Amino acid sequence: MIRLFGYRSSLSLIVWSLVGVALIVCFFSIVHQSDTRQSRIYFRHPSATRELEEIEEEHFRLPPPHKANPRAVKRRGPHRSPNVIDQYLEESSEIHALFFPDERTAVNPTKVGNDSMYFYPGRVWLDTDGHIIQAHGGGIMYDHITAKYYWYGENKDGPTYQAHPKGTHRVDIIGINCYSSKDLWSWTNEGIVLPGEPTNVTHDLHKSKVLERPKVIYNDRTGQYVMWMHIDDANYTKASLGVAVSSSPTGPFSYLYSFRPHGFQSRDMTIFKDDDGAAYLFYSSRDNTELHVSRLTKDYLNITAAMRRILIRRHREAPAVFKLERTYYMITSGCSGWAPNKALTHAADSIMGPWKTLGNPCVGGNRFFRLTTFLSQSTFVLPLSGLPGTFIFMADRWNPSNLRDSRYVWLPLFVGGLTDEPLNNSFGSPLWSRVSIYWHRKWRLPEDWKKGYV
Ligand code: GAL
Repeated sequence: MIRLFGYRSSLSLIVWSLVGVALIVCFFSIVHQSDTRQSRIYFRHPSATRELEEIEEEHFRLPPPHKANPRAVKRRGPHRSPNVIDQYLEESSEIHALFFPDERTAVNPTKVGNDSMYFYPGRVWLDTDGHIIQAHGGGIMYDHITAKYYWYGENKDGPTYQAHPKGTHRVDIIGINCYSSKDLWSWTNEGIVLPGEPTNVTHDLHKSKVLERPKVIYNDRTGQYVMWMHIDDANYTKASLGVAVSSSPTGPFSYLYSFRPHGFQSRDMTIFKDDDGAAYLFYSSRDNTELHVSRLTKDYLNITAAMRRILIRRHREAPAVFKLERTYYMITSGCSGWAPNKALTHAADSIMGPWKTLGNPCVGGNRFFRLTTFLSQSTFVLPLSGLPGTFIFMADRWNPSNLRDSRYVWLPLFVGGLTDEPLNNSFGSPLWSRVSIYWHRKWRLPEDWKKGYV
């Protein structure tokens, strides 16, 4: 009996020792993995931005369905009854007017008053000449040489039409506009830095074609400003990338060529310049079912052989890439043309992937707003150098029935804290920081946003 008891206790001692050893090994492997994967949760000190991280609710009653415009019925087909988004997209609807307030409420830097420096997402936004800013699908580059920000975007200031009855709503190419600013609020028109081509129908930039989502970065080696853009025909079958170059941020840019990266279709796209000077291209490919990421050559004028397919079968577009410490983040939209849909955040330890999906970044407003990215689609995320972990989320509120009247939705974006939806965490998989875009009807940049950039 005694012998049996002694045997049992030494057996349990061995079992517990083995469990202990396993736990120690497991603990060290987690520490080691999270070290090598470099992921960490980023904790911010948000005192400067506390106000912007307050949840602001938005209450609006969506008006009852109105009698459908015959043109809209034709576009949708007779069998589907209009949903809220269909109504919102019709310029004549009440709900449309709610989100496209007219010029009387315009943000106007020529009138300095109580509203100075306030961003009002969705309102008409005027430049320093008092004209409506035309910089859609755009991006911002900070230029250390001139110590200014440059906002490049599509000039859509022409009539909207459909090239054929089932075609996408479009405007003819006018060109890429550039605006400059020191404060990110009052923007001076620097003109059309890459003009469309009025006569030569074989040219990529002929007015009948498509020129979208221009992004510019500066190449420190060559001293050139390099613009990448989406080049297409009116039916979006060319699905190519275009490249242009200039020795000045305000152009003129010389158009070089278009091509399909590694032979693949490329539609919505962006470029990202990393801290070490390497630049990367992201584009929606294979009928927008997946994204590809590719490294650019050292002069940024071409792509290298390195390419990875990411977010396969996820159907994402409108990528906007940013970085905090050693983690890369990306906001994307779903693929529903000019109609808004739900944004998603993705994160990666290596820019070439793998990329993980973290969830919907939209906070505040109401459910309708959060499911439609505040009725907008991502285009760019701008870091604020003086406030690490704070960014401006830039998006387009498209107006497909009158594209020149599309609006800008700029909101504060924060990286920090834990994601609220735990990822399919097995032990050792990295923990990611939360990315949050906070709704604000009106907001302005906190003090110190610019530190380190002057
Ligand atoms: C969207 C895209 C826009 C534009 C539009 C045309 O999906 O993000 O840049 O191409 O389709 O319908």
